[in-house]
Amino acid sequence: MNASIPVIIDCDPGVDDAVALFLAFAAPELDILAVTTVGGNVPADRTARNGRLLRQIAGLTDQPPVYAGAAQPLERSLDIADHFHGPEGLGTLEPFEPSVPLAAGSSAEAIVDLVMEAAPGTITLAVTGPMTNVALALRREPQVAERLKRIVAMGGSRSEGGNITASAEYNIWADPEAAHEVLSAAVEVVMLGLDVTHQVRTPDAVIDTIRAIGTPAAEATAAMLDYGQYTARKWREGQEGPMHDPCVIAYILRPDLFDVRPCDIQVETISTLTRGHTQVEFRLAEGATPRHFWGVKADRDGVFDLIVSALRAQA
Ligand code: BDR
Ligand code: CA
Repeated sequence: MNASIPVIIDCDPGVDDAVALFLAFAAPELDILAVTTVGGNVPADRTARNGRLLRQIAGLTDQPPVYAGAAQPLERSLDIADHFHGPEGLGTLEPFEPSVPLAAGSSAEAIVDLVMEAAPGTITLAVTGPMTNVALALRREPQVAERLKRIVAMGGSRSEGGNITASAEYNIWADPEAAHEVLSAAVEVVMLGLDVTHQVRTPDAVIDTIRAIGTPAAEATAAMLDYGQYTARKWREGQEGPMHDPCVIAYILRPDLFDVRPCDIQVETISTLTRGHTQVEFRLAEGATPRHFWGVKADRDGVFDLIVSALRAQA
């Protein structure tokens, strides 16, 4: 199959980011132009190492290039989420120094260069971490907004409540000013927040199926999914861990697995209490052209089938 969908994956690996990357690396439809990392779940030096380490486990060498990105949010200091991802960001997976170094330049520079070089309206930007790199890229070159095809991001929550505070989801809470800048730019944004990602919880049986595939990527994916179960149970969030970030890649590959609704999304940046809350307004003005789309429903089995078949096809 032709790699017909050009994407940049901006991420903070991260246990569920890792599953998203393994799905993306295994998907022949994707032309991954770059993996741009950002400080988030763990500090930026670790997410940059993890991006390369995961690429190596997937059997890839220097392509796609992996970039290091912002170490701190735009206006705040970084609050990591190692209670969900472990101190190194990848659960129980033993980290190692990858053999291929980082690509030269920052994540934001890479996003600008790739988007400005490509034909307008062709590149999809997949975002699975705080939006700091994306906001920095837009500040550097505002035309990036209109030249992107769209952004598909994991972030926010409407009806599920928050997972880092009562009202906010981690990626948006970590850098609310960045999310505000991105959502204010002239670019289509599909947001897959907790309302959908909480529907994509890992059945135990799927982990066995994935482990049995036997490739290094499948075994590492199974280890990530196991860690997701462990943290869900530890933090009393249920028996099955939600796989947030793989939804972004699944949406790009199979949008039919999701139901998204046109809306307007605003981010709370002022209140300390509700910092990072996403206000999702479905009541758009008559004749308005919606730029934002909010995920309301996901086909969980469809998402896991996609992950299994992609990893199997790679074996
Ligand atoms: C999001 O926060 C991070 O901890 C996960 O990797 C995911 O991107 C879920 O709220
Ligand atoms: Ca993430």
